[in-house]
Amino acid sequence: MAVSKEKVLSVNNLVVNFKTDNGILKAVRDVSFDLYQGETLCIVGESGSGKSVTSKTIMGILANNAIIADGNIIYRGENLLEISEDEFYKIRGHKIGMIFQDPLSSLNPIVKIGKQITEAMLINSDKLKTMYNDIISDDLIRYKNTLAKMNIAISTEEKKLDAFISELKRKEGRSAEQKANDKALIKQKKEEFKAFEKEIKNQYLSQAKEYKAVLTETEKRAKKEVAEYKALVTEEYKAKETELKQRLKSAVSKEEKDEITKELEKEKDLFDNKLRITKAEAKRRALAVMKEVGIPEPERRYNQYPFEFSGGMRQRIVIAIALTASPEILICDEPTTALDVTIQAQILELINKIKAERNLSCIFITHDLGVVANMADRVAVMYAGKIVEYGTADEIFYDPRHPYTWALLSSIPDMDSKEKLEAIPGTPPNMIYPPKGDAFAIRSKYAMNIDFREEPPFFKISDTHYAATWLLDERAPKVEMPKIVSERIKNSLEGGSK
Ligand SMILES: Nc1ncnc2c1ncn2[C@@H]1O[C@H](COP(=O)(O)OP(=O)(O)O)[C@@H](O)[C@H]1O
Ligand SMILES: [Mg+2]
Repeated sequence: MAVSKEKVLSVNNLVVNFKTDNGILKAVRDVSFDLYQGETLCIVGESGSGKSVTSKTIMGILANNAIIADGNIIYRGENLLEISEDEFYKIRGHKIGMIFQDPLSSLNPIVKIGKQITEAMLINSDKLKTMYNDIISDDLIRYKNTLAKMNIAISTEEKKLDAFISELKRKEGRSAEQKANDKALIKQKKEEFKAFEKEIKNQYLSQAKEYKAVLTETEKRAKKEVAEYKALVTEEYKAKETELKQRLKSAVSKEEKDEITKELEKEKDLFDNKLRITKAEAKRRALAVMKEVGIPEPERRYNQYPFEFSGGMRQRIVIAIALTASPEILICDEPTTALDVTIQAQILELINKIKAERNLSCIFITHDLGVVANMADRVAVMYAGKIVEYGTADEIFYDPRHPYTWALLSSIPDMDSKEKLEAIPGTPPNMIYPPKGDAFAIRSKYAMNIDFREEPPFFKISDTHYAATWLLDERAPKVEMPKIVSERIKNSLEGGSK
């Protein structure tokens, strides 16, 4: 993967339970994953598998009856489950933003859209920081865009290479001669990729370097301007304050003293306001972000209420609100599930665009593998509160190993052949009494005795690909994935489309 290997978030052995009238419900059972800078990690699984509880735990917005029984969530070297509420508040909604399935539930129906966006900005609004960000924003985006474009070009090519290699490696019964040929072919393809990578880097890096130099200059200028502004404002205030304090000293009557004290407070407020963002500025920035998320006529839309927007437009507003804080990580929990198919595609495209432009790292939650295909660099498949398989998008789509992943793949309708989708038999388990062993066993025709007794560990398939199923144990009988899945993989690889 060309995505950097810098971890921005790391969830380790997370266990979340809920107190209910019927007993303790085990919603998340020992979940671990990393999120790397600039990637989209999709978490996919049926309803009730613990996806939303996982994301809500990261955001710190679990219901009151939740118990975080174990684990940690590391962000910038700190455990989000342990830091003070104050500090956590700075991160939640600021460094980590979230978009939910139902945009209506995150918008206030009786407050105009513009006000909702600016309110999000005015909370915690640091004028100096905003000023600084404003000055550098164009240069920063231009620089990051160049790198993002380069990385996308390289990783697209690398994905093709990976898919090609894993396909060759999966071929069985190859003669020694064929194997030698395969090897040579792989070598050649790898060299071609290296050459491509080099050329792309040549193409972009000198440009990026130029932009970076400009950015560094702009950053210096921004720092200076902000410092000058702050000095000027502070100086004005100090002068006023000194004068008023002098007058306070020499004041005799109580009325006069009260009057001056009031004036002092007023000056302090004025001073504070000059260091905070003003309403006019907030509006200007709100309009800019509305434009960024593709709201037509933002000036007119600014004064409308949520009900005057379509579902898709409302979701754009929610995205705009999440963006006002310039988050580093964006968690999207089924953001398109409530939308119809065409609108869904537009929103997915928008999220991909914003992600690339702003260099965000994204956790994308969905029950729909079709959506995963459009979004994911890596995929984690969740079942009954556990991750049962994870790998790169190619590994999950072209080399799935867990029977539950097979079942999910069998249930996506095929666009071309209109093949009937196979619903997954049975229902997810009651999580107050989660089954022993492999929780999916009871619904799986591949289940073995051990699946009902003992929990499968993660078996390693590649450096990036792991699955928790006893089928990968060396003692297990060799089984084939369902035909519907293998046929599709074969077709899509032959068709070369993906
Ligand atoms: N506040 C709550 N009280 C009790 N059970 C809950 C609560 N919130 C979620 N659950 C349960 O936790 C499990 C996981 O839910 P959730 O993470 O929302 O699933 P999904 O994968 O569909 O997002 C489900 O069994 C759900 O009923
Ligand atoms: Mg959910």
